[in-house]
Amino acid sequence: MHKYLGLLVLIAGAAGSLFLFNTNRVSAQTQHSTAVFDADGKLKLPTGYRGWVFVGAPLTPNALNNGKANFPEYHHVYIEKQNVDAYLKTGSFPEGTVIVKELTRVLNPTFPDGSRTEPSGRGYFNGEYNGIDVTVKDSKRFAQTNNWGFFTFGHHPLPYSETAAESSVAQCAGCHIANVAQTDMTWIQFYPLLRDKKGY
Ligand code: HEC
Repeated sequence: MHKYLGLLVLIAGAAGSLFLFNTNRVSAQTQHSTAVFDADGKLKLPTGYRGWVFVGAPLTPNALNNGKANFPEYHHVYIEKQNVDAYLKTGSFPEGTVIVKELTRVLNPTFPDGSRTEPSGRGYFNGEYNGIDVTVKDSKRFAQTNNWGFFTFGHHPLPYSETAAESSVAQCAGCHIANVAQTDMTWIQFYPLLRDKKGY
């Protein structure tokens, strides 16, 4: 008889650990974030973001900004799909949302306004990657700045910095607080997918 008892204990143990494993997985999912902070609270450079949902590309060419735009020049904005979906449903971003704005230069200008002519017409075309700014929604870490932390990994060609300390309010958050506090600190008005809420 107690040769079966041993077996039973084994089965019960296995079932128990399976249960624990599953509950761990569920809690990891509900707190999902790709933001990774080191021991000093610095954010690690996000990876894989060029495969996220591309929501818009504001453009501030240097040549139209006295030769030196604050954010040169294209701003490619990426958000993970599950966070876009949540925004479309609820009108705000979930805890842990990471938004990446990657800059690229305009491609070799031939006119003083920074433009060039291609078979499609005169205009602006993407040149080299030129920097990355990131916002992270975390209401505990960033309660002082409307629940969002601001980070820059440099405005220059690759490679970017590997980690970034939180930027000051004067450098970043202040302008977002002054202008877009009502739309979850994000410039929704420039991203048709989020602005018009008509889905994909
Ligand atoms: C003077 C105002 C101003 C300052 C300062 C500023 N931003 Fe922004 N930010 C904007 C505007 C306007 C946009 C959207 C249009 C654009 O990109 O040109 C934007 C967009 C963004 C986006 C894309 C998501 C969104 O909110 O729409 C990120 C990420 C971002 N900024 C991060 C930063 C970081 C990091 C800093 C500091 C290094 C910073 N910003 C400083 C005005 C500002």
